[in-house]
Amino acid sequence: MGRESLSILITGASSGIGRATALALADSGVTLHLAGRSQERHEPLLAELEATGARARFLPVDLADLASVRDGAERFLASGEPLHVLLNNAGLAGARGRTENGFERTFGVNHLGHFLLTELLLDRLHESAPARIVNVASDAHFSAETVDWDALQRPTRSLTGLPEYAVSKLCNVLHARELAERLADSGVTTYALHPGVVATEVWRKVPWGLRQLIRLFMESPEAGARTSEYCAVSEAAGSQSGLYYANCEPKPPSRLARDATLTAELRERSLAWTGLGAGVG
Ligand SMILES: NC(=O)c1ccc[n+]([C@@H]2O[C@H](COP(=O)([O-])OP(=O)(O)OC[C@H]3O[C@@H](n4cnc5c(N)ncnc54)[C@H](OP(=O)(O)O)[C@@H]3O)[C@@H](O)[C@H]2O)c1
Repeated sequence: MGRESLSILITGASSGIGRATALALADSGVTLHLAGRSQERHEPLLAELEATGARARFLPVDLADLASVRDGAERFLASGEPLHVLLNNAGLAGARGRTENGFERTFGVNHLGHFLLTELLLDRLHESAPARIVNVASDAHFSAETVDWDALQRPTRSLTGLPEYAVSKLCNVLHARELAERLADSGVTTYALHPGVVATEVWRKVPWGLRQLIRLFMESPEAGARTSEYCAVSEAAGSQSGLYYANCEPKPPSRLARDATLTAELRERSLAWTGLGAGVG
């Protein structure tokens, strides 16, 4: 995908992998829409992006609040801008509690907020095709053994929040796969990916001992951005849809991430929970 005139919306670019990805994608002629909670936390990046010759805009979106996701999507659509790449990057690990709408916090932010954002922007992606949807998932999804649908409507149960994180990342992979099937031959292709184990803020809520252990294996945010950049714009990735990537190569996701029944149920429930469809409660 040539970068000239690309319009890219990325969530969670105030720090870490999202910030490094926005900088890697920045070029003159590119417009970056930075969707996030705090304009103040995005200001340094907005200035850095403008210095590269890219256009950069802040879009207020709190993924923990579905009303805020709707407002952000409406504001984007009203701008009349095309959308060539939607990069669902923002994420939490080790957080506990519920979202504004009563969902388990990590699931609500990592999957449900992005699900709604994607659905609301889908027509614009179609109109702008060729276009791509990139979900930043994680190899953590391999440790999810099942999805307890009831638990997704309750506060975080585990002490570390990591089992809930694994489920939320499984949902990111299932979501990309389900979209690929639904959008086949539409000119909109989808991707899920593992960015590596990266030294970012995402680990701040993980218990200290575990955090020290994870630190031993960490890469830089710039290295963590490579697979996102690859899925967002590389010619090679453009020919296939619905795959899971790590190190800029397709990789088989977990058995559960390829489960057709689970894929369909996640879609139905996500539609119902975001108020977009009848689905199941
Ligand atoms: N780091 C790793 O090793 C690793 C490994 C596998 C996958 N990942 C995935 O990579 C992605 C990026 O994470 P990171 O490591 O770069 O972490 P990070 O530095 O903590 O960045 C997370 C971003 O998400 C944003 N965010 C959090 N809650 C939000 C909300 N409610 N609404 C909107 N934005 C919100 C944060 O914005 P604020 O400034 O508002 O907090 C921040 O910009 C995540 O999806 C994560 O699961 C990371």
